[in-house]
Order: sequence, then C-alpha cells, then structure tokens
Amino acid sequence: MPGDKAISHRYAIIAALADGETQLTNYAPGGDCHSTLACLRGLGVDVTERAGRIIVQGRGLGRLGSPAAPLDAVNSGTTMRFLAGVLAAHPFVSRLTGDASLSRRPMRRVIEPLEAMGARIESLDGRPPLTVHGAALRGITYRTPVPSAQVKSAVILAGLHASGSTTVVEPAQTRDHTEHALRAFGATVTVGPQGITVAGGQRLTGRPLAIPGDFSSAAFWMVAAAALPGSRVELDEVGLNPTRTALVDVLRRFGARVTVAETSADAGEPRGTIVVEGDRTGTLDIAPGEVPGLIDELPAIAALAAHGGEVCVRGAEELRVKESDRIAALVAGFRSLGIAADERRDGFVVGGRASASGAASDNPADARGDHRMAMAFAIAALAGRAPARIAGAEAVAVSYPSFFETLGQLVA
Ligand code: S3P
Repeated sequence: MPGDKAISHRYAIIAALADGETQLTNYAPGGDCHSTLACLRGLGVDVTERAGRIIVQGRGLGRLGSPAAPLDAVNSGTTMRFLAGVLAAHPFVSRLTGDASLSRRPMRRVIEPLEAMGARIESLDGRPPLTVHGAALRGITYRTPVPSAQVKSAVILAGLHASGSTTVVEPAQTRDHTEHALRAFGATVTVGPQGITVAGGQRLTGRPLAIPGDFSSAAFWMVAAAALPGSRVELDEVGLNPTRTALVDVLRRFGARVTVAETSADAGEPRGTIVVEGDRTGTLDIAPGEVPGLIDELPAIAALAAHGGEVCVRGAEELRVKESDRIAALVAGFRSLGIAADERRDGFVVGGRASASGAASDNPADARGDHRMAMAFAIAALAGRAPARIAGAEAVAVSYPSFFETLGQLVA
C-alpha cells in the first residue's frame, strides 16, 4: 500500500519544526502530501528526495522563513489547516491558498481557536484563501465543536509554539497520529480525560521514520473483497492505529471474514497484515457515534451495497464539507451507475432494492474532483453487468496514484 497520507503530512511538518535531519520512508505518493512538501519549501525548508526517501532538514521550532509567495495547499485540507496552526505562531504574514474545492471548505473551525491564542487570520467569509498574521501565542484550553483531527492538530501545533500549555478537548475521539508523531520527535504530549495537552517551547529532534501503508486506501480493496463473495485480498504493512481501523468490525458485521495480524509498531503506529474474504452480503446501519472513526471510509462502505445488501449512514453531515459534498456526490454517482441511492440531510441509504446489483449506464458517475468518490465508484462498478464510466477519475492521484493499475491486477 502507498504510505499513509495523514501520517505523512504530520511527519513532514513536524520534521520541519525539529532540529536536525529526518528521513522518511514510504512517504505518501499522492498530490496532497506533495502539496505539504511544496509549502514547506516555500517556508525555506530544505526538502529533498533520495532513493525513494524524503529528507527534511529541520529548521527548529518557530524558525520557518517568511514565504516569498502564497503557499498553495491545492486540494489538501490537512495541509492548509495544519500550516495555519504553525504559521499563526510565526512573526510574519503568510497567505494560504487552494484549488476550487479547498476554497469552498470551512476554515472558521481553525481560525477561531488560533485567534483566541493571539493570531489574526483573514479569510473570505470563513473560507480560503487565508492570510495569517502570526504573533506570539498564548496557550488555551479549546473544546472542538466538531470531532476533527485536523482542528485538534492545528491547535496542538500552535500550542507547541505558545507560552504556557495548550489543551484540546474533543467531543469524540479522532485519529491520534499527531500525538504519536510529536512523541516520536521527542515532545511530551499528555492524553487523559481532561484532553490532550502540550507545553509550549518543547524541543523536537529529527530522526528516521518509516510510514505504514494507508488504511484508508486499503479500505477500497477490503470493501471490494467483502462485497464479492468468493474473493480474498491480503494487504501487508498496513497502518493499524486503532483510531483508524473501525472498518474491520463494520465488514465483519456485513458478513465478511476479516483477520488482522499486527507485525510491528514504530513511533506509536502499529502495522500489519489484513486479510478479507467475501462470504455473504448483509445490511449495515452506521450510527452517528461511529462516524468519526470511519470518516474517510464512508465512501468505500457505500460501495459495499452496490453488490447486494443495504447500507444506511446517519450522523455524517461532516461528509458535506470534504473534498466534495460527499453525500450529494455519492448519491448522484451511484444513481448514474444504476444503483438505488437516497440522500438524507446527514447521510444516505444505498442499495436494498431490485437495482442494487448495479447496472452500468452511459451516464458517467461524476467524481466531482474527489479522490475517494472516484475510488468508491470504481469498486461499486465492479458489480455492473456492463462497463461503467467515471468522470474525473484522475482525482485518485490526490491519495492513490496507482489505484487503477492495482485494480487491474486484482480483477482477474
Ligand atoms: C484528517 C482528518 C480528517 C480526514 C482527513 C484527514 C487528518 O478530517 O477526513 O482526510 O489527517 O487529520 P477532519 O479532521 O476534518 O475530520
């Protein structure tokens, strides 16, 4: 599997804030993580690639350089929100821009806590571009209104540079890669019932790190195997951080056989082998409380229903502010593929009717520039009786450039 996108962003950014050199193996190959490296270069960080490794020369905490031009996060919300947190603490003005999709995404969720810490951030009515007026920050305690690892991380990264300590309290647990990554670089991060706390001014030290395979990319192969009885897929060296792997139980509920074997753990990130065997197709109800642990897997989960069975997702309005409005895009795309799908305010229902086995049509499923839509439609289309067309399928390059090549190898 390609390297984990979420972990790659974190290691690259924290490496830039560390003292000394960091070598990253299996850095995520997609456009998003490339955008993070390009922005770091714009901030004066020496980033090179040698023998498949990314090498970052750290500049030290609070020592990024003032950028000569706007920093373009392109399609990557993680890049923009994380860098907003870091730049809020730097004594210069910087501008963060993005493509049309990113320019529609909500940024007030990071602007509010970062302004409470002492920065000033201009936006277009809460959306990009952002103009960050960095300042000397003070630590705060912040309760995130929505469960979001991006917001938590932005505040923690700002807090590392702030006076005193900074605590983030989440309404529900989100992925904890930032906490593990900071510890891997030598910081102290306290996690308890009172929230996640970091003290400002801690020294970070560069080091070599190997990035596990991306569970959220693996999810598409796991779903494909689970959806097609009689198939089997084995995925090696996949990240198994428990804040990311809720899909394993979901697939078991659906009727698949799933085995998971942890083989190693480094820097707080376990990794191992996942085997999924399709057995029978069932029905699935994803409850609101499950959504934070499945946030990037919901498009893949929807594709399960294309092959029989039914999937109902509730409490997932956050999907509307991802790379596309994923509720609207999924429902429209599945209908184009001949699969029954209904839109709800906070989710969707897919399958469950006679057409659920999926029939391809001449009306292409539109990925709307969203990588996870393109991959979900491809897995759903495997159920069709005729070839299916996906418009904008090149969006897979954001997280998984070799997706279609691997799909071609898997489908005998
Ligand atoms: C991410 C967190 C999630 C996720 C995104 C990556 C991260 O976003 O959807 O793909 O790396 O922290 P939110 O924090 O906005 O839920």
